[in-house]
Amino acid sequence: MGAYYQYLVAFAAGVGGLLFGYEIGVIGQVISMDSFSSFFGYRYLAANGDYKDCTGDDYPASCSSLAEDTTGWVTFTFLIGCVGGALVSSMMADGIGRKFSILIGGFFFTLGAALQTSANGLSLLYPGRVVGGVGVGIMSMSVPLYISETSPTAMRGRLTTVYQLMITIGIFIATAINSIIISTVDNTSATEWRLALGMQMVPGVILLFIMFFMPYSPRWLINRDRDAEALTILARLRNASESDAAVAAEFKDIRDSVHAEREIGEASWSELMAPGIGKRVFLGFFLQFFQQWTGMNVILYYQSDLFARMGIDKKAASIPFTLANDFINFIATFPGMYLIERVGRRPLLIIGGVIMGTSLCIITLFVGLSSQTPGLPWAAIVFVFIFTIGFASTWGPIVWTYQSEIFPMRVRAKGTGIATMSNWIWNAVIAKVSPKMIARINFYQYLVYAAACFIMAVFTFVFVPETMGKSLEEMDEIFGSPTHARKSIEKGEKAIVTSA
Ligand code: BGC
Repeated sequence: MGAYYQYLVAFAAGVGGLLFGYEIGVIGQVISMDSFSSFFGYRYLAANGDYKDCTGDDYPASCSSLAEDTTGWVTFTFLIGCVGGALVSSMMADGIGRKFSILIGGFFFTLGAALQTSANGLSLLYPGRVVGGVGVGIMSMSVPLYISETSPTAMRGRLTTVYQLMITIGIFIATAINSIIISTVDNTSATEWRLALGMQMVPGVILLFIMFFMPYSPRWLINRDRDAEALTILARLRNASESDAAVAAEFKDIRDSVHAEREIGEASWSELMAPGIGKRVFLGFFLQFFQQWTGMNVILYYQSDLFARMGIDKKAASIPFTLANDFINFIATFPGMYLIERVGRRPLLIIGGVIMGTSLCIITLFVGLSSQTPGLPWAAIVFVFIFTIGFASTWGPIVWTYQSEIFPMRVRAKGTGIATMSNWIWNAVIAKVSPKMIARINFYQYLVYAAACFIMAVFTFVFVPETMGKSLEEMDEIFGSPTHARKSIEKGEKAIVTSA
């Protein structure tokens, strides 16, 4: 049996990550479908038989909206929903629990997909995008948190990275399925885009079904005084009996810690600024800030454009190259999963920043020189792949792991909520800014992301402590005792730091 149940729980919740990845993979391709753009009125069929963007003043009466506005809003409405979902989730994850938060996230995602699929105009498409985004926002906060709280210390990093693995699987599956839809379905029929968007409901329903059978987080149960249930679930997760000494010791550690924290009363939002907690909020926020400023999503969204700029024939090569890069993104998560419990979080973040920064500089140089030097575009493509390997094995998975493990139970939902909002806010900012950067400085924008990659390596070196091998209850030792621990001591009670 081994740790099979533990993996099952992580993969089941990880389907929430797959939905997130599926959305990333699907929307870029749908936006550029002729069937979608002509249906929503931002492209038109020109006299020569080609579809053209409705831009500037040069468009016929059949255009009902401008191309840049519509594509921008299709992406942006979703991201706004994600920010809102992360906020809602940080407020409800303590009340209804981690498991039900994931279920509610899955429900919103599936509902959003249904609205988008059946949309007959932008007035239904945009709300559908917001609703789907709320679902992804809720899951992106609660899935890593749930996996982290159900995992044993020695496997926590690896199991939490399952979330990132599932994101990358989602991106790859979506690209693959869309490629089939694009090459088999009539590109003038609305069936093409409706099918692509409608397919999202399949993993959505799968998540709702399997998550229903998954256990509650034992830490959350103890916090709700449901100790007997918590012990049974903990024993099952650890593949041992309830009387097993290690299970009993872990149960006691969690309970002591939760009870000591509860004695201080309700956690308020202002407590996030308290000594010992403020630094964790700072780290969660900035690690997610930097994760987005690696430029990974710019590479993902515009990779077919980038490959075309390198001289590769757009139609013939963009699908295979995009698929190859998405596949590498998936495969390269495995070294990260392996190394996170051997090398640790800190060294991987530093190495990852340097690999990505160097790759982006080389890509810029090679693409810039490619018109004079044949062969260089191919070298640039290799470095796009190396960049992806750098992201997928370090900053992609580790940031989600780190944010879900550093906060004490009292403020865990709020702290991880803020970090998750940071992910989505910066994702949205980059989605808005990068098309403008493309218009102004073209591929030189990669140097901006390269600079961010080098800065994040230094940031990690200076500010990010190692958490490998520490239980969730031991994080206070690393980050300094928060105020409430001190208050306990002042009151002459036992400090909340429990296990040793
Ligand atoms: C990031 C996403 C990104 C994805 C790519 C995630 O960790 O948060 O913004 O699209 O990785 O694999």
